[in-house]
This record gives sequence, C-alpha cells and structure tokens, in this order.
Amino acid sequence: PLVTTREMFKKAYEGGYAIGAFNVNNMEIVQGITEAAKEENAPLILQVSAGARKYAKHTYLTHLVQAALEDTDLPIALHLDHGADFEICKSCIDGGFTSVMIDGSHHSFKDNIELTKRVVDYAHSKGVVVEGELGQLAGIEDDVNVSAENASYTQPEQVEEFVKSTGVDSLAIAIGTSHGAFKFKPGQKPQLRFDILKEIEERLPNFPIVLHGASSVIPKYVEIINKNGGNLADAIGIPEDMLREAAKMAVCKINIDSDLRLALTAGIREHFTAHPDHFDPRQYLTPARSYIKELVKHKLVHVLGCNGK
Ligand code: G3H
Ligand code: 13P
Ligand code: ZN
Ligand code: NA
Repeated sequence: PLVTTREMFKKAYEGGYAIGAFNVNNMEIVQGITEAAKEENAPLILQVSAGARKYAKHTYLTHLVQAALEDTDLPIALHLDHGADFEICKSCIDGGFTSVMIDGSHHSFKDNIELTKRVVDYAHSKGVVVEGELGQLAGIEDDVNVSAENASYTQPEQVEEFVKSTGVDSLAIAIGTSHGAFKFKPGQKPQLRFDILKEIEERLPNFPIVLHGASSVIPKYVEIINKNGGNLADAIGIPEDMLREAAKMAVCKINIDSDLRLALTAGIREHFTAHPDHFDPRQYLTPARSYIKELVKHKLVHVLGCNGK
C-alpha cells in the first residue's frame, strides 16, 4: 500500500538527504518517474495539484499511482500539492492520498494556523500526514500569482508557534526559491537564504522542512526546446549545489515540477523536428518519457541523494 512520508522523512533527516516530490499529470510522467526510482531503488513522493486533478481526474491519478506501486514495490506516498482549502484536503484524504499540503501561506498567521489545524485534526484521524507553509514564494502557485516584490521569506520567529499549535508533520518555507522556469532575472546571481534555513533548523530540531519551487531548470532541456522551435529565453532555476546543501540540512522534501515539464517538452519537440511526418502519440511520447526517466535518475543520485535508501 501507499505509505505516509513519516518514515521517509525520519530516515532522510538522519541520513542528510531529501526525498523527491514529483508532480504527476499523466501516465507517461508517472512511468518515467517510477521507472527511474525503481532502477535507483529510491523512495518517492508523487504529488498532484488541484490543476492536475482537474486535468486528469482524481480517480485516474490515484489508479496510475496504484499501478506504479504494483510495478515497483517501492515506498511511495501520494500527496496533494498546494491544497487551498479544507474541502480539497478532505476530498484527497477520503480519496486515498497519504499526505496533503494545506497552503495557508497567503492568509494571516492566525488564519493560517486555524485552517492548518483543522486539516491536521481531520487528516490525523485518518492516518494521513500534513504539510503546512509559512512565507510566500515568488511566482505562480495555481491561481495565485505572487510577484518577486511581494514574496516574503519565512520568519523564523514564527515557526515554533506554527508547528506547535497546528500539529503539522512538515513545513514548507520560503528562502528564495520560486515556482516556474524563470526564478531569477538574467544577470541576477541565484541565491538562497541558508541563514534562515539554519535558524529554522535550530528552532525546530529534527523537524522535516520542504522546499517548493526547487527545479534547476536544467539547461540541457531548455536548449533542446529552443533548438527545436521553442522560445524559452532566460529560463533560470536553482543551482544544484544549493539543493544538495539544503538536502544535507533539515530539508527532507524537494518539489520538482518544472524540470519534468521541460524534459517532456524537449523530448516531444526534438522528436517532431526529426520526424515531422509522425502522428502516433506513442512515437513522440516514448522519447519524452525517456527524458523524464533520465532527468529523475539524475535528481535521485546527484541532487537528492536518496538512491538506495
Ligand atoms: O506549485 C505548482 C506546481 O508546479 C503545480 O502546478 O498548479 O500548474 O499543476 P499546476
Ligand atoms: P518548480 O516549478 O520549481 O518545479 O516547483 C514545483 C513545486 O513547488 C510544486 O509544488
Ligand atoms: Zn509548490
Ligand atoms: Na535533509
């Protein structure tokens, strides 16, 4: 059966590595990720956003993940990414997810606590774990578009009260990552606030921290896209050495979506340049799925350090 993230996070914290949380939207994405994890013998979090649920439907996604479970025999958690309210969290808890995120980060501190606690109380009564969030990332979170100026780092003084009064199992923080493929302006030096992470780690001993917006926007795939009719100028992500450093610290879950999108798109575009006459989806989705698998293997081994765990 699907597992919660409890055991994975405990081992990741102690072992100084992180679990990859990959966003899934269709069969080829699920297969590319799980084939990589199978070969690397890595625990996995597969996560689904509200947009993914709308696109593919809850039941298709849960059954795809169930198939991945049967195919791999790995510890896999199924997680709701960026739950906006109690209702969507409840629907995923009742519908077989083992972990949910309640994203109250754009509410006041008090309202965030109240909402998060309500979700935690329900989730825990069903054996499901909960991720909360403090601080706001720049970029696009579903329908909320936060500009860089309005993004605010997590305030370390708030974390103990938040965790204690909500009972959350993990905490997403904002230290300079952002969603999407354009995380820094051209010429701007990518930076993360490791000082904030360090302070949070000291205030919350042994508590798993989550990084959203943590794609590296790997240049290889951006270049393939741009060489094959795409136009992604100035796409910039989080440098891999920073993610490795975070994974050695309290960060136990690293969210990756944009890198999957880029790899998939690179595979499709490259295929169509070479074979403009093809129209069988199996022809162009095969290399696209292979690129996802190659990308995820790279992440598991060289960025997250969770291979063989
Ligand atoms: O946090 C955003 C994730 O990349 C999910 O994106 O809401 O477009 O599915 P989405
Ligand atoms: P990226 O856009 O950096 O892949 O972040 C994904 C994410 O945080 C999903 O919640
Ligand atoms: Zn996110
Ligand atoms: Na870690």
